[in-house]
Amino acid sequence: MIVYFSGTGNSRHVAERIAAALGDRAVSTEKQEPRLVLARGELFGIVCPTYWWELPPFMRDWLKRLTLDGAGYTFLVATCGTTPGCCGEDARRLLKKKGVKLSASFSVKMPDTWTPVFDLSDSEKVAEQNRQAEGFIDEVIRRVKAGETGNHTKGRMPLATRLLTHPLLNSARRTRHFRLEDACVGCGRCAGGCPVSAIEIREGRPVWVKEQCTLCLRCLHRCPAFAIQYGSGATGRHGQYVHPCMKDAP
Ligand SMILES: Cc1cc2nc3c(=O)[nH]c(=O)nc-3n(C[C@H](O)[C@H](O)[C@H](O)COP(=O)(O)O)c2cc1C
Repeated sequence: MIVYFSGTGNSRHVAERIAAALGDRAVSTEKQEPRLVLARGELFGIVCPTYWWELPPFMRDWLKRLTLDGAGYTFLVATCGTTPGCCGEDARRLLKKKGVKLSASFSVKMPDTWTPVFDLSDSEKVAEQNRQAEGFIDEVIRRVKAGETGNHTKGRMPLATRLLTHPLLNSARRTRHFRLEDACVGCGRCAGGCPVSAIEIREGRPVWVKEQCTLCLRCLHRCPAFAIQYGSGATGRHGQYVHPCMKDAP
């Protein structure tokens, strides 16, 4: 079984490709309670993005609540834009507390959805990044099939780095950083798609009702009017992105 969290589709695509190659199933952690009973020795995979060099808050919370029986070879794939930082070690420690041994961790470089910094407005460049990612995914599939062990994430950082970066993530997660522009048509897609129900539609406009969210930026990237922005202004210039596997999602 392969479980995934994916804000904008990269990690979902990776999970689905691995599952297809192994004849397995990929299941969203947004739909799956973290109580799993697997067949004895069954392969267990976790796929998710990197957020501020660690696992996304949604995935960390899910893993903290996890009860897991039966898992055999267990692996993590952290998708990332540049570097997965502490993700491998973060997952290994969280799983160890659950009595689960993480056999291996890998990373796959894909378009970087942190558009407050990274520019995804050139669709040709983005398509090329996704073409290259297919090769990285093939490599992970080969290594998982071979049962490779160890931390193979590229450009990893020691977990102690998290002492510095985690407070930054916590601050960035504050929903007061989101801005709504006049172009909003009140369609409610942002509220309906938010994995942590941080948005409600009130009088035809989205309102952030939680102080923090998981920071997946799905609301920003999937808004049909591109009316949701984050931070000081760069996101408006840096474009919207969802992986092609999400293009038809409601
Ligand atoms: C809040 C946030 C923080 C991110 N931080 C990192 C990071 O620290 N390192 C990195 O390489 N990519 C980072 N990224 C990029 C994502 O990890 C990458 O684009 C990922 O493939 C997105 O996966 P998804 O489409 O499944 O959500 C970040 C993206 C977001 C939204």
